[in-house]
Amino acid sequence: MIKVLSVASECVPLVKTGGLADVAGALPGALAGQGVEMRSLLPGYPAVMAALENTQIVAELDNCFGGDARLLSGTTAGLDLLVLDAPHLYDREGSIYLGPDGRDWPDNAERFAALCMVGADIAAGRLGDWQPDLVHCHDWQAGLLPYYLKRDGVPVPSVLTIHNVAFQGLTPMTQAGKLGIAAGDLTSERAEYWAQISALKLGLVCADKLTTVSPTYAKELMTPEFGMGLDGVLRARRDDLSGILNGIDLDVWSPEHDDLVHTYKTPRGKRANRVALQEELGLPQAKGPLCVVVSRLTEQKGLDLLLEALPVLLDRGGQLALLGSGDPALEAAFQRIDNPNVAVRIGYDEALSHRMIAGGDAILVPSRFEPCGLTQLYGLRYGTLPVVALTGGLADTVIPVSPATMARQVATGVQFHPVNADALSNALKQLCDLFDTPKLWSKAQRNAMAHPVGWGPSASAYATLYTELLEAAE
Ligand code: ADP
Ligand code: GLC
Repeated sequence: MIKVLSVASECVPLVKTGGLADVAGALPGALAGQGVEMRSLLPGYPAVMAALENTQIVAELDNCFGGDARLLSGTTAGLDLLVLDAPHLYDREGSIYLGPDGRDWPDNAERFAALCMVGADIAAGRLGDWQPDLVHCHDWQAGLLPYYLKRDGVPVPSVLTIHNVAFQGLTPMTQAGKLGIAAGDLTSERAEYWAQISALKLGLVCADKLTTVSPTYAKELMTPEFGMGLDGVLRARRDDLSGILNGIDLDVWSPEHDDLVHTYKTPRGKRANRVALQEELGLPQAKGPLCVVVSRLTEQKGLDLLLEALPVLLDRGGQLALLGSGDPALEAAFQRIDNPNVAVRIGYDEALSHRMIAGGDAILVPSRFEPCGLTQLYGLRYGTLPVVALTGGLADTVIPVSPATMARQVATGVQFHPVNADALSNALKQLCDLFDTPKLWSKAQRNAMAHPVGWGPSASAYATLYTELLEAAE
């Protein structure tokens, strides 16, 4: 058994703002069959504290970034957890990252540095009697952990996974002392990013292996267009960087056993769900495809392009159902659409997201960049054809419909490039043409449902990476 400490700022089913939580929550289970015993270190947010069962105190921590704290162990929902119970850092209502003013909590750097320091202490065997063979860190919130390990000479290797390079954990240089970053590490080769400290950058420099969540995004990250200023650092670490595609948790996302009006194994079974969804959202029957979107509403997701391209879909008798929240301007723009064939739900609703993916004919993901993306994978599993931008994990998971791919029975959706409103409009036209050819449409649906989207191959890829890293460290 390889013992791994996973460190992430969110984890399904306890706390989630995006796909990172899905991945952090699914990996321990997916890896259990691969000879990996994974324990997850999480901040003690209210939702985590409330869910923790079989709780034990592992250690009392005096003055952990301005207050006393405890390291707890416990379980919940099949997860084996270590929890940093530090009320002064995590016992807050609302978003885990943002204060009531909609801005980052002012002490975010310290909140996640505390998590990293405790993670490094666990790895060093300084807290409790469980010690991992290696540490798997996710995103900037866990970025300082590989640095602390190196700084303290702890001989435990680390992997850092980039889920989204747009979030870099920036904080003023004046914070260095508080965060335990040595003055000599504030250089442009290490922590410094445009005169600030970047927790992600320091992690990328210090971790032994780097991964991201799709092979295409791994390549894109090394380019100025997608690297968001960290492409140089990543090019320098090219030999240690790999792309391992996300899977989805098939226990949670499968039309055969989801909580739907009609569970189904074949595309035919979608019909009742489509009707039920239209009723639920107040949409009339339609002759064109019912397209769904389940997404954070941010620049990344390219949904402003959908606002421009939407008339094409509506002119062809199609419909749009959108569930999302985020940027107030985008929320308002979608809410302003006054058309009987458009239903907009602003908010976060897990159960509705399942009904939308089951009831929709197609799922739209027009992202400007997308490290992996999970909703197009749900779409595949549910026979809801993805219409995606040709970027990142979207490029790696959707096989565009063409005579050749249809003949080989592998076509699963529509892809467009470049990522602009014209190309999206053309993709929507192509979707409507396909929808108007029921024989081809149902073939593509069957291909989609047969496309493997579980964790199997990627869980083995992580297990192999861990094994290689441990062998190299011996
Ligand atoms: P990202 O992590 O960039 O937001 P992903 O596609 O990887 O993108 O993951 C997003 C996850 O969040 C998916 O599980 C998706 O279903 C979920 N999600 C996003 N917005 C909502 C919402 N408004 N309601 C319910 N689930 C949502
Ligand atoms: C990020 C990315 C998304 C990816 C998710 C999980 O939030 O934006 O593409 O699927 O992380 O890895």
